[in-house]
Amino acid sequence: MNGDLCVESPSPEVSLSLGEAVGRRLLSGDVVALWGELGAGKTLLTQGIARGLGVPPETAVTSPTFTIINEYEGRLHLYHMDGYRLGDPGELESLPWREALYGHGVAVVEWPERLGPLLPSARLDIFLEILGPTTRRLRFVPHTDDLRRRFGDFGRL
Ligand SMILES: Nc1ncnc2c1ncn2[C@@H]1O[C@H](COP(=O)(O)OP(=O)(O)O)[C@@H](O)[C@H]1O
Ligand SMILES: [Mg+2]
Repeated sequence: MNGDLCVESPSPEVSLSLGEAVGRRLLSGDVVALWGELGAGKTLLTQGIARGLGVPPETAVTSPTFTIINEYEGRLHLYHMDGYRLGDPGELESLPWREALYGHGVAVVEWPERLGPLLPSARLDIFLEILGPTTRRLRFVPHTDDLRRRFGDFGRL
């Protein structure tokens, strides 16, 4: 057993519910990094996470591709970050990246590789892989004991 926690999602709806389940388990200070190519479902998963965090359903959660950081109010403050357009992490200087990544809310980060050394090592990684037109594989890699306790059963949900 290599400890990998994988789950296959057969549809966008299932991915949304998975995101919701993730969101319900998040606590103050958590960072979730979503890895995967364009169209893998990172933004969709974030929409589910926002629901699970209690962001009202009438609030549209859209990709922060150009704004880099979008913020939402739920049970916890949600920072939705997207590094896609970041040339280098220095471009974050005018944005609340410290509050997002090291504050009391929750950060969900698309294209986390673009953050370089700013990406916290205490985080939950979710790797999204496209298997087919409507199927995705999600692999959960929690990097702290606390996150392992909370997300250790995710491959078996
Ligand atoms: N099982 C699935 N899980 C997530 N998204 C899916 C799935 N099947 C199809 N899709 C589609 O893939 C696209 C994912 O888009 P998006 O979440 O914006 O990706 P990303 O943010 O990774 O670029 C959506 O159009 C969604 O409907
Ligand atoms: Mg996206």
